[in-house]
Amino acid sequence: MGNVGTEVVRILRDHADDLRQRVGAPVVLRGIAVRRADIDRGVPQELLTTDAAALVARDDVDIVVEVIGGIDQPKSLILAALNSGKSVVTANKALLADYTGEIAEAAERNRADLYFEAAVAGAIPVVRPLMQSLAGDRVNRVVGIVNGTTNFILSAMAETGADYDVSLKEAGRLGYAEADPTADVEGYDAAAKAAILASLAFHTRVTAADVYREGISKVTAEDMETASAVGCTVKLLALCERVVDSDGKESISVRVYPALVPLTHPLASVNGAFNAVVVEADAAGRLMFYGQGAGGAPTASAVMGDLVMAARNKFYGGRGPGESTYAMLPIAPIGDT
Ligand code: HSE
Repeated sequence: MGNVGTEVVRILRDHADDLRQRVGAPVVLRGIAVRRADIDRGVPQELLTTDAAALVARDDVDIVVEVIGGIDQPKSLILAALNSGKSVVTANKALLADYTGEIAEAAERNRADLYFEAAVAGAIPVVRPLMQSLAGDRVNRVVGIVNGTTNFILSAMAETGADYDVSLKEAGRLGYAEADPTADVEGYDAAAKAAILASLAFHTRVTAADVYREGISKVTAEDMETASAVGCTVKLLALCERVVDSDGKESISVRVYPALVPLTHPLASVNGAFNAVVVEADAAGRLMFYGQGAGGAPTASAVMGDLVMAARNKFYGGRGPGESTYAMLPIAPIGDT
């Protein structure tokens, strides 16, 4: 029951009737795994357990929502759920960026649903468009602002000359920053999201280690002034590009770094904790997705969308189409990354 989990529980309880109608059957909250069960969290105490593995293993649990964060514990819980045919909804970009292969293969082997819209850019639908809507097009480039904390800090520095440390603290207070903000300010969070976006966009497998990464901790007030003087601002960009060399050899390049963005570019006006992702595809042309990319409620919105899909599939006996596509991606990248 962190920022996202608390909001998921609230929506499940406040909108139970709507959810029942949309799914076709009641969506029942069977239990909530917490680190400490002796704290009053405003939910019936009997729903709380510190034994996450036992909760996942329960026969009356069909769908597991993972919003713990971290790698080892969520990975073993997710694999246990998938291996017993349960559907999984996760917001865990760090885990997916490193272990998509293993997790997607477990989903495929067990014909289980795996949904992760919340892993990239909070409330903004970008995973599903790349995985499904654009599956018949050829995506050439994805460029975005995919970390709310750093965008909040850079926007404050650009607009008011605010101090870096003060802005970082405020981002933490508002629930944007990761438990360890190093993941945000040094670009690890954005690199994990870039790896997921590149994997989806180019139908290959990119891990966070493949991504060139530079954070914002070295961006100074002077840099901001210089940027402004040349009609630009500074944004932490995630860039995923298809590159074709003179011999026609195709590779992909995935990078995260603070970049000068001309004030006339649509990404320059994406401020605060907002995120935006621009996708360029052969037939679709340029698409832009914009909205709240961090915070408990926006991220819970994406989790809930996935949860409704997974619940419908359980109820009607179907399976999400995107997951199997993702699971069948070739293991080797199409070129150097
Ligand atoms: N810490 C992340 C961010 C949360 O600031 O964007 C959403 O992934």
